[in-house]
Amino acid sequence: MKIISLEMLNIRSYQHQKIDFPEGSFLLSGDIGFGKSTILLAIEFALFGLGDISASSLLRRGQREGMVRLEFEINNQLFTISRSLQKKGENITQVSGYISTNGNKRDLTPTELKAEILKILGYPKELLSKQKNPIYRYTVYTPQEEMKQILLAKREERMEILRKIFGIDRYKTIRDNSDLLRLDLKRKASMFENSIKRLSEIKEEFNKTKEIVSNLTSNLKSIKNDLDELKTKENNLKVTYEKIEKEFLDYQNTIREIAVKESELNNTKESILRMELRINELLGDNKNIDIKSELASKEANFNNLLKNISKAKDQIKIINKNRIEASKLEAEIASKKIFIEKLEKDVKLKQDKMSVLKGDYSRDINAIKKEIKSLENIIENIHLRKKGINKELDSSMKMKEKYNKRILELRIESSETQGRINNLDKDLSSLNGLTGVPLCPLCKQNISEDHKNREIQRILQEKDKLQLKLMESLDLIKKLEAKIDEIESEIIEIIIKHVSVQKEKISCLQKTLEETEIYNSLLNEITQFKSEIEKSNIELSKKLDNYNALSLSIEELLPFEKEINLLEEERHNLQNGILILKEAVKINADIQDSAKKQIEIANILSHLYSKRTQLSGIEFEKKSLQESLNKLTQERIIKEREEAEKTREVKLLTERIKGLSNELNKLEKYALEKENLERISNWIDKYFIGLMETIEKEFMESLRHQFEELFSRWLENLLEGEDLNVFIDEDFTPHIRQEGFDADYDSLSGGERTSIALAYRLALNRVINNLVDEIKTQDIIILDEPTDGFSRKQLDRVRDVLDMLGMKQVIIVSHEPEIESYVDHVLKVTKRDGVSRVEGQEYIVNRKTTFSI
Ligand SMILES: Nc1ncnc2c1ncn2[C@@H]1O[C@H](COP(=O)(O)OP(=O)(O)OP(=O)(O)O)[C@@H](O)[C@H]1O
Ligand SMILES: [Mg+2]
Repeated sequence: MKIISLEMLNIRSYQHQKIDFPEGSFLLSGDIGFGKSTILLAIEFALFGLGDISASSLLRRGQREGMVRLEFEINNQLFTISRSLQKKGENITQVSGYISTNGNKRDLTPTELKAEILKILGYPKELLSKQKNPIYRYTVYTPQEEMKQILLAKREERMEILRKIFGIDRYKTIRDNSDLLRLDLKRKASMFENSIKRLSEIKEEFNKTKEIVSNLTSNLKSIKNDLDELKTKENNLKVTYEKIEKEFLDYQNTIREIAVKESELNNTKESILRMELRINELLGDNKNIDIKSELASKEANFNNLLKNISKAKDQIKIINKNRIEASKLEAEIASKKIFIEKLEKDVKLKQDKMSVLKGDYSRDINAIKKEIKSLENIIENIHLRKKGINKELDSSMKMKEKYNKRILELRIESSETQGRINNLDKDLSSLNGLTGVPLCPLCKQNISEDHKNREIQRILQEKDKLQLKLMESLDLIKKLEAKIDEIESEIIEIIIKHVSVQKEKISCLQKTLEETEIYNSLLNEITQFKSEIEKSNIELSKKLDNYNALSLSIEELLPFEKEINLLEEERHNLQNGILILKEAVKINADIQDSAKKQIEIANILSHLYSKRTQLSGIEFEKKSLQESLNKLTQERIIKEREEAEKTREVKLLTERIKGLSNELNKLEKYALEKENLERISNWIDKYFIGLMETIEKEFMESLRHQFEELFSRWLENLLEGEDLNVFIDEDFTPHIRQEGFDADYDSLSGGERTSIALAYRLALNRVINNLVDEIKTQDIIILDEPTDGFSRKQLDRVRDVLDMLGMKQVIIVSHEPEIESYVDHVLKVTKRDGVSRVEGQEYIVNRKTTFSI
């Protein structure tokens, strides 16, 4: 590891300081209490956190937050680690920090940071759970006041520390664990003890069972042989029995067949008897006739009879047909007669109606209609008051016209007279309006009052005359209008009178018209009915002729009806006779068949009787055979049961043997296992634990030897020329002999004690670094005041010692100015107003810092 830089914020006497570390050896110089040790503590804190250092001794008093950031390099990899402190109330704790590897930054908790740094530095993982870190404290950096502590500590304590540092602990752990393992193995072996006890017992049972099974197996074999023999015998007997059984069945069938055939024979005999009785019954006295020829002649007669019947039936058909036709004609004739009668009645009725009409109906109907039309025209014209229709009406109309004309003249006249009166009124009013001697409005001359009065008088006279005339005219108009009203009433009366005359004429004509029409239609109908009656009479006479002809033919054919009854009776008798003969013929044939069958059955029966005699002993034979077969089967079943029992027994015992064998195997395995466990346990006890002790001793001895060599060498170097001999005992306690005498550590001078302490430290450093390869802090050493109490001569020798160490980076803290001359660089630590500063970093002026503040 190579430390590159350190940055501190509020750490002890520092407020903010960044230090770039040079390569090689360098001195941190400065007065007491200036802040040298603080830098070293800050480095340790940055790497391992709190543990060996308390938080309150790190955070600058009066500050609430502090931070340390360390940059270092291992195997060309650049690491930055940063940790922070925070004060809450009176408590100061470490909060999360970060670690960055080649610029790859990760925020981690304090524990995570510690785990990561142990990994980076190659320190044992177990240190993670430990508060203190002896490897760093004894190989890289020992705080100044602890330098001599290892020498002053008690032997056991020292050995404890050294064991930890050298990793000798592990041998003790191996021994302890081995002992635990040995005990565990022993316990396991004793667990098998009880099970193994049963081993001989099971072995004995196993062998005994095997013997029983072997005996049972040979017994089972002989049973099987007996059983096979029995089965062969039984099968042979079964074959014979089956044959006999078949014969017995045959015998039984024969008996059954005999019974059947015997009953069949009896039935046949009975049936022949029945049939002979039936023939006698059918033929009666004609028993001896030739039935077949009789049947043939009867059948011939029957056929002839059938022909005659058919002929008669044809005739009867004709009669029936004629009868139907005659009855049809009868009905037609009757209906015709009714029809004619009805027509004649109708003619009579119509003739009666005609006799009621008494008028002259010779006139043409159209002429009457024309006359009615012209009369209707006259009525219309009268209503229209057309001239020339009626003289009386013409003269009244003329008179009315004359009076109307006169009224019109009088009205014109009256209106003129009224106009003249109006003019006179106007003149009067203008004359009455004149005052003084005015100009006459009429004659345009100056008029006098007299003249005016006269003129008024004249006008009034003229006005009276005119008014009289007007009155007369109006009176005359009234009189004329009354006259006209009278004439109008006369006219209306004339019209009514004349119109009613015409209407009378019309109604007379309409009556004549109606009656003429009725008369004509009745006449037509009567003529029509009469011709119908004539036609129907002709048809009726024709039908009557037909009917008479049919009646005659029916009468002629009537004998056939009587004949057919006789023929039918004959046919019935003949048919019966034929049926009887036919049955007799059939029964005769059946009798012959039955007789034949009777002979056949008798033959079969005689054959069956002889077979029954032959097989008569078979039943007994079958019974005795069955008995011996049953006996044999019983014997076989007993043997089979015996076989099954023995087989089951063998099976059960075989299973038991299997179980015992498994158990035996298991127990034998246990025994073997127990033996093994005991052997291993003994081996651990007798050899392995002893071996570990030896290895540990050997290892310690070799370490002690190395350590002693280095320790004496460093010490010799530091105390050159002094008569001081040292050796290290097995507890790593240095023993000093001064001038041939054993010397106590406390009796030595301060310088001598510091030299021994430094030599011890350096030797320790070298031995550990030689021992553990993977530790990455082998090439750095930090010495805080290692030269306390040294003489000038001794200080010179420190240089040689440091050269001999051959470290890449050596950090020395010292007040001694001599040391400045043999280190590569000097960093001056100063303090002003309670704040420390580091000076003398000019050698790194141009060096590029990897982080900014
Ligand atoms: N928590 C703190 N806050 C402020 N100052 C502190 C704190 N702890 C210690 N100091 C002071 O910081 C100063 C530097 O201490 P440090 O141990 O670094 O001194 P030094 O240079 O190593 O001295 P010496 O030569 O005596 O060993 C001392 O004056 C000390 O009392
Ligand atoms: Mg100090």
